[in-house]
Amino acid sequence: MRVFFALWPDVSVRTHLEEVAKLLHRECGGKKTRGESIHLTLVFLGEVEKVDPLLEIASKLSANAFEIKMDRAGYWKHNRIAWAGMAENPELTDLVASLQAALKSAGFEYDERNHFPHVTLVRRAGEPKSLPDFEPFSWQATEFCLVGSTPSGYSIIGRWAL
Ligand code: 2AM
Repeated sequence: MRVFFALWPDVSVRTHLEEVAKLLHRECGGKKTRGESIHLTLVFLGEVEKVDPLLEIASKLSANAFEIKMDRAGYWKHNRIAWAGMAENPELTDLVASLQAALKSAGFEYDERNHFPHVTLVRRAGEPKSLPDFEPFSWQATEFCLVGSTPSGYSIIGRWAL
């Protein structure tokens, strides 16, 4: 199974993100991420044989809850993704670094490309003439999840409080 660690929005944050997805879709066309699939990836692991060691790593991780101010939209031409994001957020950077360090010392390999936190809202998006502005909103990150990617969508394997 392909797995990744992520922040999953609550209903209120998800509603905000769905609104941004609509604005982006208006500019870019393409395919909006389904509301129930909207997330922010922390570490993408890809195919793993067993998830038990990941559950253990996650349960031992200690990090505080924090706030993310979602305040910008972006577009990447190379993979035709339109996304929502935030200014540099040290607590988010630290959470990703802690997870990466714990995974690495347990012998896991993960996507080591520079992690650029974002929420993918539209795929196969055309290049927008301009990116939409939206009223910034807060995302209280109080837990993180291990998620499995299945043919029918994402399924949350475990959740841990921050
Ligand atoms: P994306 O939204 O920018 O495609 C599940 O695929 C999640 O893991 C997505 O949020 C995806 O980011 C992210 N991800 C990070 N690295 C990936 C990779 N190498 N292959 C697939 N998904 C990756």
